[in-house]
Order: sequence, then C-alpha cells, then structure tokens
Amino acid sequence: MTTSTNSKHGMNTRLAHGGHDPQSFHGFVNPPVVHASTVLFPNADVMRRGAQKYTYGTHGTPTSDALAAVIDDLEGTAGTLLVPSGLAAVTVPLLAFLSSDDHVLITDSVYRPTRRFADTVLERLGVAVTYYDPLIGGGISALIQPNTKVVFTESPGSNTFEIQDIPAIAAAAHQAGAVVMMDNTWATPLYFRSVEHGVDVVIHAATKYPAGHSDVLLGTISATQPHFAKLEETYTALGMCAGPDDAYQTFRGMRTMGVRLEHHRKSALEIARWLEEQAGVGQVLHPALESHPTYDLWKRDFTGSTGVFSIVLDGGSTAQADAFLDALQIFALGYSWGGFESLAVPVFLEDRTVAKGDYAGPVIRLQIGLEDVEDLKADLLGALAAAKSV
Ligand SMILES: Cc1ncc(COP(=O)(O)O)c(C=O)c1O
Repeated sequence: MTTSTNSKHGMNTRLAHGGHDPQSFHGFVNPPVVHASTVLFPNADVMRRGAQKYTYGTHGTPTSDALAAVIDDLEGTAGTLLVPSGLAAVTVPLLAFLSSDDHVLITDSVYRPTRRFADTVLERLGVAVTYYDPLIGGGISALIQPNTKVVFTESPGSNTFEIQDIPAIAAAAHQAGAVVMMDNTWATPLYFRSVEHGVDVVIHAATKYPAGHSDVLLGTISATQPHFAKLEETYTALGMCAGPDDAYQTFRGMRTMGVRLEHHRKSALEIARWLEEQAGVGQVLHPALESHPTYDLWKRDFTGSTGVFSIVLDGGSTAQADAFLDALQIFALGYSWGGFESLAVPVFLEDRTVAKGDYAGPVIRLQIGLEDVEDLKADLLGALAAAKSV
C-alpha cells in the first residue's frame, strides 16, 4: 500500500498520512469502505490460480489493507491481520502457535479473559499453561521447558501495571526457540516499539486508543516476517475477519490517535501525581510514576504513558470502594477503556496465582479521558470523601 510517509517521519506524520494513497482512489483523502463478500474474476484461468490481489471478502479488502498498513508501519512488522475484537487478537495467535502437548508461559498480570481462554480452551486442547511473575525478567529461563512454544507477555500488566523486562524475556525465549507474543494495547506502538524489544507477534485491542470513541470492537495481530505465514494460515482457517465499517472507523481513529494519546498521557500523569498526595489514597499504580516498582524499566523502554492506571484505597473495604465508585459524577462505571470518557472499575485480583500483590486496600482502575483535569480532580475528591464517610 503506497503512502507518502516513511520511517524517517515522526509518528504523527505517519498516523496522518499512512495506509492510503489518495491518488490510488480518485484523489479521495480517505480510503473507500469496501463492503464485500464476493470478489469477481475476469476469467477461469485467473480464478483457478487465484491470481489477483483480492479473492474473497474474508481474505482482505482495500479497507482492511489500509489499516493493516498503518499498524505495520508503526510496529515495524511484516503483516497485520484484523479480527473482530481485542480478545480475538489474543486467541487467534495462541491457537496458531500452540498444539496439544505444547507448553505456554503467560504473565500472571494478564488481561483476565486471556487467562480464561488459556484455562478453558487451551487446557481442553491439551496445552499446558504456566503463569509467571511479571517481574521475572531473564529468570524466565528456569520456567522454559522443552515443549514451551510461546511466551505471552503484556506490559504493563492489566490493572496493576507491572512493566515487564521484554528484552530479557525475549532473549531467553528465543534461545529456547519459543515465540514471544505481547499484548501492547496499553502503550500502543507510539509509546512502546515491541519488535525492537524482541517481540515476534504484537497484539492490539484496537477497540481502545486506535478506535478511540467507545463504539467499535476490533483487534489487530501483527507479526515479524518469520512468523507471519503461520499466523495467517490459522487466521484464514478460522474465518475470523473483521467487518469493513469497524476497520474504517479504526483507521479514522488512528489519524488522531497521537494527539488524543498526548492528552490522555498528560492528564493521567497529572492526576496520578495529585492522587499520590490525597488523603484516602494508599498507593497509585501508574508505571510512569517514580514510586512505581517498575518505573526504571518503563523509563528504559517506553517513550510515553497512556491514560489507564489504578489506585489503592488506604485501608478500607469493598463498601468503601463501592461508595467511591457510586459517588463519581463524571467518571462512569464501565470496562472498555481507551475512549474519550473517564471510567472507573473495581479491580479483581483473586484469580492471580503469582502476582497477587499485597495491597493494603481495594484497588480501583481509572481511565482518564479527554475531559478537563480540574473537573476530574473535583469528581475524585468527592468520591474519596464518600469513601471516607462509610
Ligand atoms: C490489555 C487488553 N487486551 C485485550 C483486551 C480485549 O479487547 P476487546 O474489548 O476489544 O475484546 C482488553 C480489553 O479491555 C485489554 O484491556
């Protein structure tokens, strides 16, 4: 896919121009939204050989190609596939690279539905699953077995935001011939360059910051050259393609993702620092805060931070957490983050086996949206007062 940008340009230039050459479609600045199942062939010979770029709606369209090209450009991957949700972007590569009697290592701080998939479908298929400490780093070598085929990472971890030492983990995994997968949803390729840190297969819940408006479900799976064919084979076999409108909306969202992320980054950091000073807050779990246990790794490997982090209420009970949540007026209670609006959710850590965390009170995850920071602070102050009054 022709674009007028190259890897020397800055991220915002690449976001603004990547994926579509307007002259390839009558000068229209945006790519067409191609609704298609059937693709026609000019004659029997071309049809028999499948000798044209597009052959069937499930195998890609100019719309899905436009989005895939932007992601490949930003991630530095050889190919990107679109799937109907971020969760599908997790499950498809695991199915592609794991077979019965294989072993997979998954970070214990993983997105909960990833764990549910591993504990149900992968276990049923005869794949052995081991959860590891997200802080393990190169120590992961000790957990690698002869049949370990995949090391699954997510950095920072869901809800508790541990940064993983991806280069050390990748080096150990590669030495043993295992594929390194990473759920890079939190940072996006703008703030963490996975492939440069040793990742082979990069997963995004594009539902979050890429789509950015809380109205689209979409996942992307990107792989480096040695791994793309295997990934694509299973993807094609599963028929797990995304719809054209969702692909287009996500492509559209990416045009402004850089400026939105910068706003999320600044507001979230300001609020996180401020929350550290507030009575009733025991701890703030934000990887770009100096107080976070993995701050040094974040500083070494990441170029920015986004809008999602957690707080630990100072002591207190579930009743206080509920009072906090119920008192919020601007923050709404909802799970799928990455949109324009601020959200809060209670965090559940009981299914963790290693990284249980020794938190002194209930954990609440916040997504800082695009609202004015002073309004959000006032809302949080009201919620802290409500928690205190229980
Ligand atoms: C880290 C992470 N990965 C994957 C997903 C799944 O995305 P989706 O909601 O599109 O299935 C989420 C959703 O919250 C997530 O937080």
